[in-house]
Amino acid sequence: MADLPIVTERRPFGKTGLEVSPLGFGGAPIGFLETERERVAGVLNLLLDHGVNLIDTAAMYRGSEALIGDTIGDRRDDFVLVSKCGHKIDGVDFEAWTPELITASINRSLEQLKTEVIDVMLLHSCDIDTLKKGEALDALLKAKRAGKIRFAGYSGDNEAAAYAAGLDGVSVIQTSINICDQRNIDAVLPETRDHDLGVMVKRPIANAAWKKLDDQPGMYKNYASEYTKRFAEMGLNPKKLGFEGAKDWPEIALRFTLSTPGVHTAIIGTTNPDNALANIRAAAKGQLPVEAYAAIRGAFNKADPDGKWTGQT
Ligand SMILES: NC(=O)c1ccc[n+]([C@@H]2O[C@H](COP(=O)([O-])OP(=O)(O)OC[C@H]3O[C@@H](n4cnc5c(N)ncnc54)[C@H](OP(=O)(O)O)[C@@H]3O)[C@@H](O)[C@H]2O)c1
Repeated sequence: MADLPIVTERRPFGKTGLEVSPLGFGGAPIGFLETERERVAGVLNLLLDHGVNLIDTAAMYRGSEALIGDTIGDRRDDFVLVSKCGHKIDGVDFEAWTPELITASINRSLEQLKTEVIDVMLLHSCDIDTLKKGEALDALLKAKRAGKIRFAGYSGDNEAAAYAAGLDGVSVIQTSINICDQRNIDAVLPETRDHDLGVMVKRPIANAAWKKLDDQPGMYKNYASEYTKRFAEMGLNPKKLGFEGAKDWPEIALRFTLSTPGVHTAIIGTTNPDNALANIRAAAKGQLPVEAYAAIRGAFNKADPDGKWTGQT
């Protein structure tokens, strides 16, 4: 691994004062796929050792928070920690999105993650009506005043994410942007820019939509199906984008997302150390050539002229 680059770039994370690496880690697959502890420890330590400094998880990603707390809880100063709450979770007997559930969920996250404070806590993709009601965000802000979280925010897409970006007290937005999911670029990023918010991109390599669905693991066969369909319809050709071939899709996809103005970090989910290494290499290569970026934007708009391909939660 001697030739493995260190991700040295840091991007200001909106008005939070935090500085984040363009490549982050998404903690959904390690939880949902019940990845073994040693493998998770290998992936997470590799990423931290090579300059990745943002880790994302959620209370409802099964064992994800506990795995992160267990494997890198002792390196807490090395990363910005993001989690999410609001859904019903095992062992917490309150209704989803209520202040009681949110408070109990944050307390459980602190325990599982073996930390005294979580840097960013996001409402986990509630609908716009729940946002408008206000009590869910108020519960996050109460946790902020109590010193349990440092910043509050929202993870979601389309109209709800654009609305959340304008709310007092919201500092961070997590939203889907990738080669097969581009509507949030115009629907959400103008709002995050106006309010100087930190922006983290979920599903940043489109769930590896170039793979056959049969080769996706477990629940990802269903979860990745919309992007797989879009990817086929877009008819992109890596050679026409200036790359060698299909092996370059992970790099093309990551660099597309990271070349989008207003994006601060892209949280790729992986359970595979080789893919973590490849993602570090790709992130260190910087912006996609402008022609390739424009071609991918053009292919998306051509395949979906009526704007039906909305942001996927
Ligand atoms: N509503 C929400 O708040 C929400 C929704 C979705 C996602 N998220 C967050 O965003 C994170 C990222 O989204 P995601 O995990 O759904 O999708 P993603 O990061 O776009 O794609 C993950 C998939 O790509 C594969 N992969 C990773 N690196 C690769 C590489 N170099 N080459 C080939 N395949 C590669 C992984 O498989 P391997 O394990 O085999 O590498 C995994 O199946 C999540 O983990 C979660 O933290 C939040």
